[in-house]
Amino acid sequence: MIKVSEYNKFLSYNKNKLFLEDIPLENLGEKFDTPLFCYSVSQIEHNFTELQKAFKKVKPLICYALKANFNSNIIKILSNLGCGIDVVSDGELQKSLKNGVDNQKIVFSGVGKTNKEIEIAIKKNIKQINVESIEELEEIAIICKRLNRTINICLRVNPDVDAKTHEKISTGRSEDKFGISDKKVLEIFKKFKSNKFIKIKGLSMHIGSQIVLLEPFSKAFRKIKLQILKLRREGFEVSSLDLGGGVGIKYNDKNKILDIKSYAQVIDELFSDLDLEIIIEPGRYLVGSSGIILSRVIRTKSGDNKDFVIIDAGMDNLIRPALYGAEHKIIPVKKKQTNLKSYDIVGPICETSDVFIKKMKIHRLNSDDLVVICSTGAYSSCMASQYNLRKPAKEIFIKKKKFTLSNN
Ligand SMILES: Cc1ncc(COP(=O)(O)O)c(C=O)c1O
Repeated sequence: MIKVSEYNKFLSYNKNKLFLEDIPLENLGEKFDTPLFCYSVSQIEHNFTELQKAFKKVKPLICYALKANFNSNIIKILSNLGCGIDVVSDGELQKSLKNGVDNQKIVFSGVGKTNKEIEIAIKKNIKQINVESIEELEEIAIICKRLNRTINICLRVNPDVDAKTHEKISTGRSEDKFGISDKKVLEIFKKFKSNKFIKIKGLSMHIGSQIVLLEPFSKAFRKIKLQILKLRREGFEVSSLDLGGGVGIKYNDKNKILDIKSYAQVIDELFSDLDLEIIIEPGRYLVGSSGIILSRVIRTKSGDNKDFVIIDAGMDNLIRPALYGAEHKIIPVKKKQTNLKSYDIVGPICETSDVFIKKMKIHRLNSDDLVVICSTGAYSSCMASQYNLRKPAKEIFIKKKKFTLSNN
């Protein structure tokens, strides 16, 4: 039994044919070249409203982490729902503004903002810059003075908490390059107390991505709460707290997920009595489940000890398996009633790491059969490359019976 709705509520089989919303994926495979990124608009809307509804006490400003997927359609869908944006580059900032995002709902994060990017952010009068070091803040102060402008700042704290996620997407341990240690935060508040260009509003944090346990969040959130109380005791006004993103999603049958209500409950319980503006920066949670890659079998290949299915999607479209050892669920577009076979599902790229799943059990696949790679809405198309000089895959947005091809 394939429970596809666990991956995307709008993905379903009807008479053995796979649909995304009301569109049979087979039809898209006939109409468009594969591989093709397909997104369910309803799933993105659902993710946003579920997250918003999960909070009972605080009403956080949700700033979508655009790095997860920078497609313009996604910016429009989410900002129409009232969502802000968390950007990490001038490119993301300009794209958000171009797509109508309110500048006062834009937060600028990132460990390596250039002075040019900082200047643009100040001139565009964005909501705040999340600062990663005293060195960065000193440069921001110089730029503000030259421009005679003020800017709101949150200091990104490194809470030294292990997010218990993949090594390469863990950001909140003291050895990671991100954030400012506990010890330095108070010193920075003191140093910039009477700087007329810099308004330190509060703190921010982001401990990592694809986090599926509640404990790292609650541990880090408790630490930052203590820090806020300490700063207030020292006489500093702390009115804003950005808790970052990081909530994980379902990629395969083995991976557990976090209940979004319990995540929100921790935030409600810890912060609702502190009179703080709360910001969160989810990326993956908002868009990850909405996307799939529709891919065609190029051919099967018999090896000595196993069989391969070579599909036309590769690590140039989806690098997560090669980069993080991620395993994305793969399902057939047409269910056949044959015995199950074991295959390694691989891409066409000339790299041994271009493998999606090893020893996957699926009914017999043949050339031209269509398959779907699930949970590719986040960190997939935005991390695509032109490796092997292959054409970039197109992206299509589906809502009920309608679809729009997006040129990004
Ligand atoms: C500062 C910051 N905020 C938010 C996010 C979004 O993370 P996620 O997509 O896991 O929610 C990231 C990504 O790692 C990030 O670096």
